Amino acid sequence: MTDQLSAPPSALVDPGVAAPASWWRDAVIYQIYPRSFADSDGDGIGDLPGIRSRLPYLRDLGVDAVWLSPFYASPQADAGYDVADYRTVDPMFGTLADARALLGDAHDLGLRVIVDLVPNHSSDQHEWFRRALAEGPGSPLRARYHFRPGRGADGELPPNDWPSIFGGPAWTRTTDPDGTPGDWYLHLFAPQQPDFNWDHPAVADEFRTILRFWLDLGVDGFRIDVAHGLVKAEGLPDVGVRTEWHLLDVGVSPCFDRDGVHDIYRSWRTILDEYPGERIAVAEAWAPTLGRVADYVRPDELHQAFNFSYLGTAWDAAAQRRAISESLAAMRQVGAPATWTLSNHDVVRHTNRLLQPDDGDVAGRRPAEVDPVAGLRRARAATLLLLALPGSAYLYQGEELGLPEVVDLPPEVRQDPAFHRATGQDGYRDGCRVPIPWAGDRPPYGFGPPGGASWLPQPASWAGLSVAAQQGDPASTLELYRAALALRRADPALGAADNLRWCAAPEGLLVFERGTSLRCTVNMSAGPIRIPRPGAALLTSGPADLSGAQVVIPADTTVWWAV
Ligand code: NOJ
Repeated sequence: MTDQLSAPPSALVDPGVAAPASWWRDAVIYQIYPRSFADSDGDGIGDLPGIRSRLPYLRDLGVDAVWLSPFYASPQADAGYDVADYRTVDPMFGTLADARALLGDAHDLGLRVIVDLVPNHSSDQHEWFRRALAEGPGSPLRARYHFRPGRGADGELPPNDWPSIFGGPAWTRTTDPDGTPGDWYLHLFAPQQPDFNWDHPAVADEFRTILRFWLDLGVDGFRIDVAHGLVKAEGLPDVGVRTEWHLLDVGVSPCFDRDGVHDIYRSWRTILDEYPGERIAVAEAWAPTLGRVADYVRPDELHQAFNFSYLGTAWDAAAQRRAISESLAAMRQVGAPATWTLSNHDVVRHTNRLLQPDDGDVAGRRPAEVDPVAGLRRARAATLLLLALPGSAYLYQGEELGLPEVVDLPPEVRQDPAFHRATGQDGYRDGCRVPIPWAGDRPPYGFGPPGGASWLPQPASWAGLSVAAQQGDPASTLELYRAALALRRADPALGAADNLRWCAAPEGLLVFERGTSLRCTVNMSAGPIRIPRPGAALLTSGPADLSGAQVVIPADTTVWWAV
């Protein structure tokens, strides 16, 4: 695989502000959740050939890159975030040859490809872990994970008080080969996801070779799962709270955001930099402050980190302005671009989330029914705001169709492992993972061949939301995304430069300029707001009469203006 990409148009920067013209600094990266994107063989689960067939759609949408959630060999205890073999494609998704072909096609279309790397834990079916269990307490492979004797007279209590993020204790007791109860092993997530011991040199070596394996195959980068979790405090001390973790509230934690993780990322950066074409890594790093998140993207570490504090910011002009300013300031300190995300495979889709009452749980607001018209109006306004911000934007498959969260999945079809562990904080993630409607008036709406299934049921109401139904309709959400992405590419003011300037505005209206030629106005108040017309309207997220000297911006509406 060769890197055939020429400099993409999005590398244009405002010449007035110095910013390196690296492709990733303002890239729009589209997250594909492979099992739910496109199913080529009718088994109800999306796959790599399915993705390949839809790449032209993504090129036409106007994104710069795709990020693929895991497609590696996995028993799917956590939808692929439990990897049994890091160098193999799971047959459910295809083959390594399919991965290679997908990379080739994507590059031919000018799309870069980022793959998911899951270094905090493996599957319990990973060869190391299976052998560690089978060989019993003396197995040297046990040192690559966290095995410990239990507490209590007979070792019947977990070694410490850490809860699993998916609910219940973070420890599971093993059974020795002779059938007696044995040591416990650590899993911050499901019991099928044992945590690696990153103090063991074989673990670090293994991941360096895994990085090279995929870089050699031609990937353009990695999304690092649980990037904040790899290093644990020596001695695995008690944390003192017996509730589930709230990832953003961890403070100084014995298992998250330890300083030692940064050595790992420095060593990975040297590998990424050996390859041509600016291969990147983006951290899924939950840390207590934006400053701590910025540590992951210092010049000799990773390139980007997801901005979860922005994702969790309420739809409120003052709160949004604060969150945007603080994000830009934090990243500026280390010379990294800010990133912006509204939806992903772990959170309630923003068509619902932005209208739901804030229940205080940034990551996992419980999905709730909202007025679909109001939800979509606000989601479109939020997206246009997001795409006007300096830095890199992450979109989640289906948001360009305005898909709502599916809130009424019956318990028997749900597959989120946390759902079945009752107290897990992320237990309701299936509702944002329902397969994409491409065309047609009944399920699977072109997700797979006619008459085929889909691993989660698609709502009967989704016919009107399919790609085919929206294509060419200027009022559709799909065409709004296309128009916004085309303008973002074409307008130098919307490039990578950190050139946002806030403008005075009535309460509830967020107004900022990018460079000197583009202004963005977002009405986050409950009613319409009248302002002098700032310039020529370029794009609006919803219906508005923008022609007079005075214009009225309706509630939950964003307008881009050429000024
Ligand atoms: C974060 C991933 O986004 C999520 O889907 C997964 O369950 C956990 N990490 C564990 O790998």
